[in-house]
Amino acid sequence: MIYNSIIETIGNTPLLRLNKLNKGIKATILVKVEYFNPGNSVKDRMAVKMVEDAEKAGLLKPGGTIIEGTSGNTGMGLALAAIAKGYKCIFTTTDKQSKEKMDVLRALGAEVVVCPTNVAPTDPLSYYSTAARLNKEIPNSFYPNQYDNLSNSVAHYETTGPEIWKDTEGKVTHYAAGVGTGGTMCGVAKFLKEKNASIKTIGIDTYGSVFKKYKETGIFDENEIYPYRTEGIGEDILPKNVDFNLIDLFVKVTDKDAAVMTRRLAREEGLFVGWSCGAAVHGALEYAKEHLKESDVMVIILPDHGTRYLGKVYNDDWMKQHGYLESKTFATARDIISGQTNKVITVSVSEKVGDAIAKMTKEGISQVPVMEGNQVVGSLTDSNVLKLLIEDSTVKNKSVKEIMNAPFIFVGLDNTLDVLSSLISKENSALLVHDDKEQIHIITRADLLQAISK
Ligand SMILES: Cc1ncc(COP(=O)(O)O)c(C=O)c1O
Repeated sequence: MIYNSIIETIGNTPLLRLNKLNKGIKATILVKVEYFNPGNSVKDRMAVKMVEDAEKAGLLKPGGTIIEGTSGNTGMGLALAAIAKGYKCIFTTTDKQSKEKMDVLRALGAEVVVCPTNVAPTDPLSYYSTAARLNKEIPNSFYPNQYDNLSNSVAHYETTGPEIWKDTEGKVTHYAAGVGTGGTMCGVAKFLKEKNASIKTIGIDTYGSVFKKYKETGIFDENEIYPYRTEGIGEDILPKNVDFNLIDLFVKVTDKDAAVMTRRLAREEGLFVGWSCGAAVHGALEYAKEHLKESDVMVIILPDHGTRYLGKVYNDDWMKQHGYLESKTFATARDIISGQTNKVITVSVSEKVGDAIAKMTKEGISQVPVMEGNQVVGSLTDSNVLKLLIEDSTVKNKSVKEIMNAPFIFVGLDNTLDVLSSLISKENSALLVHDDKEQIHIITRADLLQAISK
């Protein structure tokens, strides 16, 4: 077969049986290897669909410029579509993304604007806002907005979903994929559930992202948000492409577990894939171990290729530097809180600062989470309170709400001591964790010291 342009080669990626990593699981575990697409990722599919739908709607005209906020993979797909169809490309991305990803976009003739990671999506400097601003400023430009543009999910409804159905001869029972914009997860989920409503869909999320809690409680909890490292999945916004009705449940995976599994995929299965692939496989296998029976067939999406992560998860020094490649086995948050019998001591936003200090002194604690109802909304630490009292002794008559600091970071039960210690700092003097019964526990520097000296 002869293809007329590179974008015609997108899709029909292979479905492959896992042979080693599925040890102990009787069900069939299959992975769909999306790096076989010409841009080496799943995103080629939706990039071309967004461009073609925009052309049909008259939003993109000859000589136009495509502007998008992208972590790289969508940019790659858009750059290929732009080359095939004669458009210019400008991409905004964050300084968290691999240099390799940005270099590839530049190699394909795109302009890349790097924006800071640690700002709110609404901040004018964020990569979302910068893309929107450039779109306003540059005439004849088109902003696909992969988060809210439903052509994204439709691409997967029209291609990825049918391919999975055909290649498994309709036998697929479980479908797992990382959720970033939600396009891959929800487009495929919609197609599969229309074919067979009993197919179970499992979204893979990261710690630091809002999805899992939102699905389970309906609460968009800003306290869940913190900078994580896995690229491509998890969000601090709710994109329109995430249809929570199509995702039966979420599994959260730590950066470390994802990184370790990514390397195992390469070494044990010959699958040289990206970091979010390790997250998807780790989370999906955890679920499979507990819930799948022998006759079940699970399909896991592997979104992209390993070259983009050579400087990170495939680099031993980088892995060691981040505490991801330790031969030592460290205690986990679960181990640390298992010894805690008492309920965590908290103060309420409406309490007087003086009463909060009295409580902290009586209990002999240096920091407390601040609650509003069942929600953690802030924190108090003795050093911060002391500083304020020295400046103004009437502070003790104020309400806790007026002086509290940002809430402590929530971590996962399986985070190990090395990772936990890297999250404790001057600004964040303690960590919070939900146990299996959704009870909150606090982990302090003293708890870490005690655990490591055991
Ligand atoms: C590496 C990687 N994995 C996973 C995803 C998530 O896919 P989706 O945006 O379709 O939810 C993306 C999306 O950017 C990605 O780049």
